[in-house]
Amino acid sequence: MTRHFLSITDLTAKEIWQVFALAKKQNKLVLKGKSLALIFEKPSLRTRLSFEIAMTQLGGHAVYLGPSDIGLEKRESAKDVARVTSSMADMIMARVFKHKTVEKLAEYASVPVINGLSDLEHPCQALADLFTIWEIKAKIQGLKIAFVGDGENNVTHSLCLGAVMLGALFACGSPKGYWMNKDIVKKAKKYGSVLETVDPKEAVKNADVVVTDTWVSMGDTDKEKRMEIFKPYQVNKKLMSLAKKEAIFMHCLPAHRGEEVTADVIDGPQSVVFQEAENRLHIQKALLLWLI
Ligand code: CP
Ligand code: NVA
Repeated sequence: MTRHFLSITDLTAKEIWQVFALAKKQNKLVLKGKSLALIFEKPSLRTRLSFEIAMTQLGGHAVYLGPSDIGLEKRESAKDVARVTSSMADMIMARVFKHKTVEKLAEYASVPVINGLSDLEHPCQALADLFTIWEIKAKIQGLKIAFVGDGENNVTHSLCLGAVMLGALFACGSPKGYWMNKDIVKKAKKYGSVLETVDPKEAVKNADVVVTDTWVSMGDTDKEKRMEIFKPYQVNKKLMSLAKKEAIFMHCLPAHRGEEVTADVIDGPQSVVFQEAENRLHIQKALLLWLI
């Protein structure tokens, strides 16, 4: 059966650990002659770089299809794009606006489809984030992972699910109206503990890991309103001081210094954002190998 990776929950906890083990290995040219189609409806640095370089390092090839190439669901339906692309490529990665689009691609593709970010989830980022936490803390079970800012966000959703799957407590501090998607929270609570609060201090208190993301995600249209509402949720030194002394700071990038995080935090000693970014490559390689 073809396995897809649209949500972090498309892997079991045991399978996530298998991907982590693969990411630790020196993986050689095992994808020789294989091709990966990269479909992007939105811009990217890390996701494109990591998938393209992963395929090169594994001996395969990646084909980049940018926002103006396909016209997904406009020039051509997701159904036909999936059929044609899977007749030529061995795997498909898609970064889309609507999660439904990646679901449609998976429904009609005969090869694995990877969600490279949708409005609902960013599972590749969550894999890299959890892998980074494991590298630094040597465990995930029992840690408190706190997210502060936009709860109703792809990065938050995937990290929440992945964190509780691996036995961490996930705390989310977000303003009213920007809490996590209810279905995601319901699903997450089946695996473990989730704390939701409007108080960023309560979320961060005694945390082992503090995470934030942009206040305005790709596709969000209410920038001015968001910039006001999220102000009390900025991760700065004062907020970080409520977390454990040895807590780390994470951000999927791109970051906006002076908005969701201050420069002294993201460029300071607790920040692991560049290790986190590099781990996108190691995790992408492992995920491709695992899926194929
Ligand atoms: N973190 C992340 O997915 O970065 P890009 O949007 O640059 O791919
Ligand atoms: N939440 C952000 C993540 C970027 C990698 C966005 O969707 O724009």
